[in-house]
Amino acid sequence: MMKEKMIVLTEAFVKDKLKDESSGHDWYHIYRVKKLALNIAEKEGADSFVCVMAALLHDIADEKIAGTEEEGLREVRNWLESIFVEEPYIKHILSIISSMSFKGGSGAEMESIEGKVVQDADRLDAIGAIGIGRTFAYSGAKGQLMYDPEIPVRETMTKEQYRNEKSTAINHFYEKLLKLKHGMNTPYAKKLANDRHAFLENFLEQFFEEWEGRK
Ligand code: ADP
Ligand code: NI
Repeated sequence: MMKEKMIVLTEAFVKDKLKDESSGHDWYHIYRVKKLALNIAEKEGADSFVCVMAALLHDIADEKIAGTEEEGLREVRNWLESIFVEEPYIKHILSIISSMSFKGGSGAEMESIEGKVVQDADRLDAIGAIGIGRTFAYSGAKGQLMYDPEIPVRETMTKEQYRNEKSTAINHFYEKLLKLKHGMNTPYAKKLANDRHAFLENFLEQFFEEWEGRK
């Protein structure tokens, strides 16, 4: 099977699986991460097939979607085998997906350039205008306030606290979003992250001015 065909089939597979997702991992998150990964891969000389496939499949093994990561990874392997992706590609794609997620701060180092590219693309989608939109959408879906001055920003937290404790959209900027810029792997993604980071800071500045009725 041609690689283009594998990509088209995988897009349809993922689109179908994520069609009812409201946890911030809807199909258009995948769409954007795929576009970004391709863009970064070209600049950084990474294998675009591996980047696109890993970007498309990166959230299928997420605990929020798959139940357990192990089940999710098995499902991804079954899918890749069913469309005759070659074994070395399967191994590479699975290894990227299994080390992807942020999980409260303890992200593993990516080994391959393709892994670095896809991780950068996923992190970029959490900042900038899109990142702000996703954060407020996620907070609303979770029943959190957009901001509550009485809920302190958590300096450190376990994975369970990150997932389950009540917080606010604005606190999430300080607990995660403003840290993402420092974790970028590739030079091109760093450049994009700097712009998106500045956009977050401008947003926060305006937000607090308006909060106090000064603007
Ligand atoms: P990841 O794909 O990095 O695992 P998450 O599942 O943590 O991302 O989050 C999905 C989206 O929801 C992201 O845009 C993230 O910033 C946002 N989000 C995650 N946790 C919170 C939270 N506690 N409050 C507000 N937004 C959140
Ligand atoms: Ni993602």
